[in-house]
Amino acid sequence: MADDTNLADDQESPGSMGPPYQTPKGVHDILPADHEYYTYIKKVVRHRLRQAGFRRISTPIFEFTNVFTRSLGETTDIVSKEMYTFQDRKGRSLTLKPESTAGVVRAYLQNNMQALAQPVQLYYIEPHFRYDRPQKGRYRQFWQFGMEVIGESDPALDAQVIQLAIRILKDLGIADLFTLQLNSIGTPESRKKYIAALQDYYFGKERHLCENCRARLGTNPLRLLDCKEEDCVVLAKLAPSLAQYLDEESKEFHADLKEFLDEMGIKYVENSRLVRGLDYYSKTVFEFWDASLGAQNAIGGGGRYDGLVELMGGNPTPAVGFAAGIERIIANMKRAKVRVPHKDELHVFVAQLGKEAKKKCLPLIMEMRERGIKTVGALGKGSIGTQLKIADKFGAPWTIIMGLTEVREGVAIIRDMSVGTQIKVKFEDTLEKMIELIGEENLDNYSPGELLYS
Ligand code: HAM
Repeated sequence: MADDTNLADDQESPGSMGPPYQTPKGVHDILPADHEYYTYIKKVVRHRLRQAGFRRISTPIFEFTNVFTRSLGETTDIVSKEMYTFQDRKGRSLTLKPESTAGVVRAYLQNNMQALAQPVQLYYIEPHFRYDRPQKGRYRQFWQFGMEVIGESDPALDAQVIQLAIRILKDLGIADLFTLQLNSIGTPESRKKYIAALQDYYFGKERHLCENCRARLGTNPLRLLDCKEEDCVVLAKLAPSLAQYLDEESKEFHADLKEFLDEMGIKYVENSRLVRGLDYYSKTVFEFWDASLGAQNAIGGGGRYDGLVELMGGNPTPAVGFAAGIERIIANMKRAKVRVPHKDELHVFVAQLGKEAKKKCLPLIMEMRERGIKTVGALGKGSIGTQLKIADKFGAPWTIIMGLTEVREGVAIIRDMSVGTQIKVKFEDTLEKMIELIGEENLDNYSPGELLYS
């Protein structure tokens, strides 16, 4: 993935440095080599979440802006500076989704999912948009997979969401790179008391804070606890601890969660300064931090959001969820030198010369594909020599060659591209011979399942 850290913020294209049309800063093409990772990650997510009874949901790429302002909180970084908000032709305010929890809760209510068996378990694999300063691991369009469990409050559910997140990271070969950071931020009431204590503590210390924190002290003082600026970190270390202000119910809930995690053999780091950047959380919050880099570029995070459904107009309905950044996952898979299996390698390249050969080759190509042979036919006008060079670049282990002579003699030449040897077969035997050479077990006979008709 390209890293455009070096582009000045207002530099939208590199001018004379390349093609005239380029992607805006912070967004990227997903090229075939990276799609191998995306495909694999999607398969793992679908498999593990299907095993746990989750169903997939996609909410729209854009929503009415108030879906996000109401749920994430007006003073959060995301809402105050990172949303892509625009007006449509009728002057309605719309926003590209910066995350999916708000949209999923909106969908839960709009589609009357309270009427389903609770909890409703949903997962998503979606692009999201944040006007963040682009840097390594921070993009303006990025993908998340996430899961939401709506309709039940029990620490066993929080434990399961955490376990599933870890299971997926394990499947992707990177679980060991991360530590699970865990905290409880209590109920909104207990948090109010804590926020007052925090503001008291910081009173008179404002000049030691970074500009950002000074601004947030009045609006979102919890965020001062996870600021990465040196002086702010020192002050945060000495600040009163949230744990002292937790209500009894949250304390008990958290103790149970930890017991359940222990029971499943899941290790965690208790981190009393972990608060997360969204207002909707209550009680459990957690993040997966790089074991060597710490808080920077968490690969995923989540928590409980018991008040959100009600805030969005529904009956009081507890919920818990998690989301992880797919670009960050891929970067870590590459860092850990994890490669993914994929099925994109070709079996056969068909080289031909002349219209008569083409007429023979087209049905053969069609039939080979039907039988699971991955086939590319060079049906242009290059010489056989040029086509063989192309075949080499495609990396197909076999090439079928049909020139004028072969058509006249009713044969085909099969060339083993790794050693350069050739055999001649009767044209009508070509298909079976290819299957023999490739091996039945290597054919691509993937089926999406039989269609059912009602
Ligand atoms: P979040 O912590 O804002 O949580 O995002 C989750 C993950 O998305 C991050 O840990 C990171 O890996 C990835 N991510 C976020 N912003 C960017 C970016 N600009 N570029 C690349 N990756 C990024 C949420 O979004 C919550 N909705 C999670 C949740 C679900 N809580 C409850 N349910």
